[in-house]
Amino acid sequence: MPSRTSDVLVVGGGIIGLVTAWRAAQRGFATAVVDPEPGGGAAQVAAGMLAAVTELHHGEQTLLGLNLASARRYPDFAAELADLTGHDLGYRRCGTLAVALDADDRAHLRELHALQQQSGLGSEWLSGRECRRLEPMLAPGVRGGLRVDGDHQIDPRRLTRALVAACELAGVVFHRVWAERLDRAGDRAVGVTAADGTALAADRVVLAAGSLSGRLAGVPDDVLPPVRPVKGQVLRLSVPQRYAPFLSRTVRAMVRGSHVYLVPRENGELVVGATSEELGWDTTVTAGGVYELLRDAHELVPGITELPLTETRAGLRPGSPDNAPLLGPSGLPGLLLATGHHRNGVLLAPVTGDAMAHVLTTGELPEEARPFTPRRFARTEQPA
Ligand code: GLY
Repeated sequence: MPSRTSDVLVVGGGIIGLVTAWRAAQRGFATAVVDPEPGGGAAQVAAGMLAAVTELHHGEQTLLGLNLASARRYPDFAAELADLTGHDLGYRRCGTLAVALDADDRAHLRELHALQQQSGLGSEWLSGRECRRLEPMLAPGVRGGLRVDGDHQIDPRRLTRALVAACELAGVVFHRVWAERLDRAGDRAVGVTAADGTALAADRVVLAAGSLSGRLAGVPDDVLPPVRPVKGQVLRLSVPQRYAPFLSRTVRAMVRGSHVYLVPRENGELVVGATSEELGWDTTVTAGGVYELLRDAHELVPGITELPLTETRAGLRPGSPDNAPLLGPSGLPGLLLATGHHRNGVLLAPVTGDAMAHVLTTGELPEEARPFTPRRFARTEQPA
């Protein structure tokens, strides 16, 4: 089959692949994306929380720096994309309330609050009564909560549509087909062969295939990113006008050790997520998953059972060993990685696009992205 050539070929048309392609094209690179369905995949499932503060975990302070850098860029990023494409992204600066339902949840939330304070983050402890004053639909049993005014939301479905439009405006070429294998010449990546046999040649290949990034044929074993699928089941409900405003901000909790969150959109959609399951590439929606989400969401906001359930879906997060992304040159010349964003792909879109454009232009990652080099997972030879 004939060969098509580009400067930068991005494997994967999810949010991370699209933002990388858009920013690369803006820098003047002839850019292409190979994906059978650009904008499909996990972006169609994700709730779109921009939750740098409420999703902070012990041991993830380095990732916090990148998450915050991306959160700071969101207003300009969203405005640029909306202005350029004319799309409404559903970007809502609504804040988040993380609440506790019992004594264990409250102890967990108190710990999170202490960690947030040590990290200099803005969050305020509220009593149960104060939580309910903010969100009257909360259950009377809510014991307290954290008000985080800096954690917002965007609609990932609209975001991907806008990114596809922005890519098209910037001249990105879309090859709507699966990438079958990476092509190499000597010790260098030189493109991919698509499932229809077309050779897509490129000076540089960026592997941004989400949870599939760890299994592209032709990538040497010691270069394959250690990325695995982490399943998340998500529900969508709609809030009839007579109940609006049902919730005014994102509400989340840890219920019996599982995260549940309710993300209310301005258009009346209410997204409830998400399970976290390690089951390989399985995207079945199960009765158990739906039951757990509804049970936990109902404990938090009992009125949810009145709402029409409009959609159930499962997607795959690209998990990495340290829950942080892999950004920049891999161990194979010509192959770069932008993957492993796990729970933070939507949040990390602005900073990832900038970092990948920077490394493609200069050969170096910008300061804030350096800790996320794939080299941190390089296997070192053990002395005999
Ligand atoms: N960031 C939300 C999730 O991964 O479920």
